[in-house]
Amino acid sequence: MRAVIAITGASGIVYGLRLAEELGKAGARLDFVVSGGAKKVMDCEVRGGSKKALARLAKLGRVYSETDFSAPFASGSRAPDAFAVCPCSMKTLSDIANGYSDNLVKRGAEVALKEGRLLVLVPREMPFTAIQLENMLKLARLGAAIMPPQPAFYGGEGSAGELVDFVVGKIMDRMGVKNALYRRWGA
Ligand SMILES: Cc1cc2nc3c(=O)[nH]c(=O)nc-3n(C[C@H](O)[C@H](O)[C@H](O)COP(=O)(O)O)c2cc1C
Repeated sequence: MRAVIAITGASGIVYGLRLAEELGKAGARLDFVVSGGAKKVMDCEVRGGSKKALARLAKLGRVYSETDFSAPFASGSRAPDAFAVCPCSMKTLSDIANGYSDNLVKRGAEVALKEGRLLVLVPREMPFTAIQLENMLKLARLGAAIMPPQPAFYGGEGSAGELVDFVVGKIMDRMGVKNALYRRWGA
């Protein structure tokens, strides 16, 4: 499968990085787009900062800047099988919901929607305002998979890494990519 992972400036950069690594292991052809906001959050959340995080992504696929509209997935003629915004900030969520595609993340999401490809959004905020919930409802009605990072605990208490993997495993399930990242109910 051909997939794009967009990383925006919400907390939980680790979800995007783990998703990239696991999709790469599963043989997906990957491209990435990283917003300026994401780089700031990477500097706070990732050991080695944004430089290290971007280097990790570059090993798995091409990394586009948010201003580079020449990327293939900016065009409906080259839409990927799946486009994931992981994590997705409330700002990017709002812009996607309103068709305001002023960067490559939002344009890629718009292309996925208009071409009927899988759009996965991993919105991170707590609590959500009514505006944010309305934006999510609007996008869900348009066919986007709204997947806030909410691990279940039926596999036990788990380490932080296991909880991250639960979320990543569920995203991969939605993309139709086999994985054994979490213990399934009844297994
Ligand atoms: C350390 C840090 C954590 C943040 N966490 C969140 C968050 O969890 N959710 C969110 O919507 N915005 C969060 N923000 C704010 C966004 O980064 C900000 O709204 C930014 O403009 C989003 O831009 P982007 O969507 O283009 O990446 C955070 C900012 C920083 C610096």
